This record gives sequence, C-alpha cells and structure tokens, in this order.
Amino acid sequence: MARNKVTVIGAGNVGATIAHWIVSAELADVVLVDIAENATKGKALDLFEATPVVRKDVKLTGSNDYETTRDSDVIVITAGVPRKKDPVTGQFPSRDALVRTNQEIVGAVTKKAASFSPNAIIVVVANPLDAMCHVALHESGFPSHRVIGMAGALDTARYKSFIAEALNLSVKDVHGIVLGGHGDEMVPLPRLTSVAGIPLTELLPEDKINAIIERTRKGGGEIVGLIGVSAWYAPAAAAFEMTEAILKDQRRVIASAVLLNGEYGYDGLYVGVPAVLGSNGVEKVIEFELTESERAMLDKSADAVRSVVGVLGY
Ligand code: NAI
Ligand code: 2OP
Repeated sequence: MARNKVTVIGAGNVGATIAHWIVSAELADVVLVDIAENATKGKALDLFEATPVVRKDVKLTGSNDYETTRDSDVIVITAGVPRKKDPVTGQFPSRDALVRTNQEIVGAVTKKAASFSPNAIIVVVANPLDAMCHVALHESGFPSHRVIGMAGALDTARYKSFIAEALNLSVKDVHGIVLGGHGDEMVPLPRLTSVAGIPLTELLPEDKINAIIERTRKGGGEIVGLIGVSAWYAPAAAAFEMTEAILKDQRRVIASAVLLNGEYGYDGLYVGVPAVLGSNGVEKVIEFELTESERAMLDKSADAVRSVVGVLGY
C-alpha cells in the first residue's frame, strides 16, 4: 500500500514543525513548499537526516515546485505573513490590509496546490484563520467538507493545559471544547468541561475558571509577548492532530473551523464547532443545545468572523 502524502505549504515555524510531528509519528511522506527554495530544501534534508536516528521511514521533500506536491492526501496551508511593525513608519498594518495580503498568498498557493491534488483535504492554518478558510474554499473549488480550519484544536489544547496546570492533574484527563472563531471572542465551555468526567465547575471556583477562559482567549498573544513572534509548537501539534484524524479515518471529535450550512443557526460562514474528522474530511458537525449565554457568546464570535470575512469581497 502506498504511503500517505502530506503537503505543507509555508515551511516557516509552524510548517516545519508540522513536518517534525508527522515524522515523529511516521504518519506520511511530507512535501514542504515555500518561496524560500534553498531554506526549504535544507529543512526537509535536515529532518530526513534525523529519520535513521528516530527510526522512521518518511520521505521528505523541500521545494518551491508544486509538481512535487502531486496527489497529496492532505494539504496544510501555513503560508502567509504575520502582523509586524513597518520598520520605517513603526506602524502595524491595518487588519484589513493584512487580510488582503494573506488572501493573495493563501489564494495563490491554494489554487496551485489544489490543481495538483484535486482529491486532497485542505487544512488551513494561516491567519486570520476563519477568513482564510473562505479563501481556500473559494480558490480550491473543493466541497466544504474538504476545506477545514485549524483553530479550535489549538484553543482547546491551550484551555486544557491551563486547567491541568491549575489542578496539578494530568492533561490526559481533561476533557472540553472551545467553540467560535479564532479570536478574542472564542467560546470556551466550562459547563461541558470535565476531569475524568467530574465537572470542572466542582473542581475550581468561578474566578479561577474565568481566569483560565481569559488566558485561553489571549493564548496566542501571551506567546507573542514572550517570544516576539507567534507560537508554533502547539499550533503544529494541533494541525498534526487533525491531519492524523483524517489520514487514519479516526472519526475524532475535534473543534474545527467548518463552513456551516444552517448548523447552530449560521449559514455560509466558517465557525469553530465540534466536527467529526475522518477520511472524507468533515464527516459530520455535532450540534447540541447551548445555554442562552453560550449562544450569545457564539453569536458575538460569529459576528467578529463575519466582519473579517467581509473584507475579502466575495
Ligand atoms: P512564518 O513566517 O514562520 O512562516 C510562514 C512561511 O510562509 C514563510 O516561510 C514564508 O516564506 C512562507 N510564504 C510566504 N508566502 C508564501 C507563498 N506565496 N508561497 C509559499 N510560502 C510562502 O510564520 P508561522 O509562524 O509559521 O505562521 C504561519 C501562519 O500561521 C501565519 O499566518 C500565522 O498567523 C498562522 N498561525 C495560525 C494559527 C492558528 O491557530 N490557526 C496558530 C499559529 C500560527
Ligand atoms: C495563535 O493563536 C497566532 O493564531 C496564532 O498562536
């Protein structure tokens, strides 16, 4: 049986680390694609040279040529530019300017990659995440169950790690989910969070839970504040988790940005919801009853997504 093939577009911090996680799990052959040709070849070669040590049979290719991506099973899109200060003016670009720049990049790479792998499943990582999912959907022409955004997997991982830390318990026993867009309005759900089935609300006082929710919402910013650039280990692990669920047809329930067609009352909008991920991409969106306040938070988060998506002009 042929091995699976994953193309990761953008071989920067997140992209290269996704390749690393894939090699560690011997999940699939990996093609790294970036405009920085030599650096990308070098990263792929360096990682390949580690495979005898870690005893993993994974073929690694680094390239700027999309021919090398042909017949990929999964395409992960991390190409884009981060929000950084203009060295001359000292100003940050406006959000809309950044959206348009990344729309161009994500649009172009999606179009090329999709043409070489028309049956692939796309996992979008580039920011602003929810809007870039719309771009990938638009440019690939793929059905929406094959264009999925990574955000909830990361936001949920951050939420769970903060809970485990606060309780001094294993991360393995923390269960929960974060819904909504990948922004400050995301919706962690303490009502549905448990440690080995015991409700979180029985284990931590409200003020501590609220502090964890706030820290989760600002999780990306906390790392930028410490390192100066955005996170990559946890984001890459989260993108890996989704890729593995797809390639192994695990039917994992992972919070993912999915194009909703009436689910949760939203139509034609990417929103983070519990999704069953398997060999077809999104196999199903799981719907459940929200309380009034949870619904209000999700509406606010969806509104924030809608306003960024509005910039795309589709
Ligand atoms: P990075 O700057 O380290 O890497 C981005 C790479 O994209 C660079 O190597 C660059 O050369 C490449 N690139 C730019 N234009 C390209 C093009 N036209 N074709 C191919 N490659 C191109 O950035 P990093 O940290 O890896 O982040 C990547 C993206 O992922 C950013 O948009 C970031 O905001 C986003 N991100 C999203 C997360 C999420 O939860 N969805 C979490 C972390 C990062
Ligand atoms: C994060 O949440 C920057 O979206 C990225 O770390």
